[in-house]
Amino acid sequence: MIRLLLAGYLVAAMTGCAGTGTSAAVPRASSPLPATSPSTQASTPAPIACSKVATPGVTEGPYFKAGSPAASTLTGPGVAGTSLLVTGHVLNLNCAPIVGALLDFWQADGNGQYDNNGYRLRGHQFTDSQGAYRLETVIPGEYPGRTQHIHVKVQAPGGPVLTTQLFFPGSPRNSQDSVFNGALLMQVSSGASTTANYDFILSSE
Ligand SMILES: [Fe+2]
Repeated sequence: MIRLLLAGYLVAAMTGCAGTGTSAAVPRASSPLPATSPSTQASTPAPIACSKVATPGVTEGPYFKAGSPAASTLTGPGVAGTSLLVTGHVLNLNCAPIVGALLDFWQADGNGQYDNNGYRLRGHQFTDSQGAYRLETVIPGEYPGRTQHIHVKVQAPGGPVLTTQLFFPGSPRNSQDSVFNGALLMQVSSGASTTANYDFILSSE
C-alpha cells in the first residue's frame, strides 16, 4: 500500500498520463519522469541544518485527486491568485537531503476554489540531486472552515507517504482552524514577490 502511490506516478509516466498543464485536459508528458533509481544518488548531498523533528502529518481532506501531472509550475493563465514561490528540501531525521523524493501538491486558488474536474493547481515533482524542490504556485484563498493552506504528500523512494499541509504565518484564521499546526508554518517573505520556504523531515525512508 505504501509503495502504491509512487508506483502509480511511475506507471502514469510510462503510459503518458502525466502532463505539465494545469487545465482539465491533461496533456501527455513529452519526456519520462526523473529516475528515482539509486543511479541518481551517486553522491550524497551534505546535511542541512534542521530540527531533526519529523514533520507532522495532518488530514488529507476531501479534495485530493490521484494522477496529478508532473509539474512544478502550477500557475498559468486563468489561475486566480497572487504568485507564490515555495522552495525547500526533503530531509531525513539526520538532516541529510533525500534525492528523488516525491512531492504531490494540491491547493485552492486565490478565491478558495479547488479544481475537482481537472488538475489546475495540482502537480507532482521529485527532489533534485540536492534533495531540493521548487513550486511555482499562487497564494491559496480561504474557504469555509479553513485557513490558508497548501496540501502535499511527501514520499522518499520506497518509503511511507507523509500527508500534510503547509500554513502561512499571520493568517488571521490560523487560530480558528482545527487542522492548523504551528510546526507546519512556512517561512514567508513578501517583497516584490512572495516567496516561502519549508523543509520536510521524514521519520523514515
Ligand atoms: Fe484544503
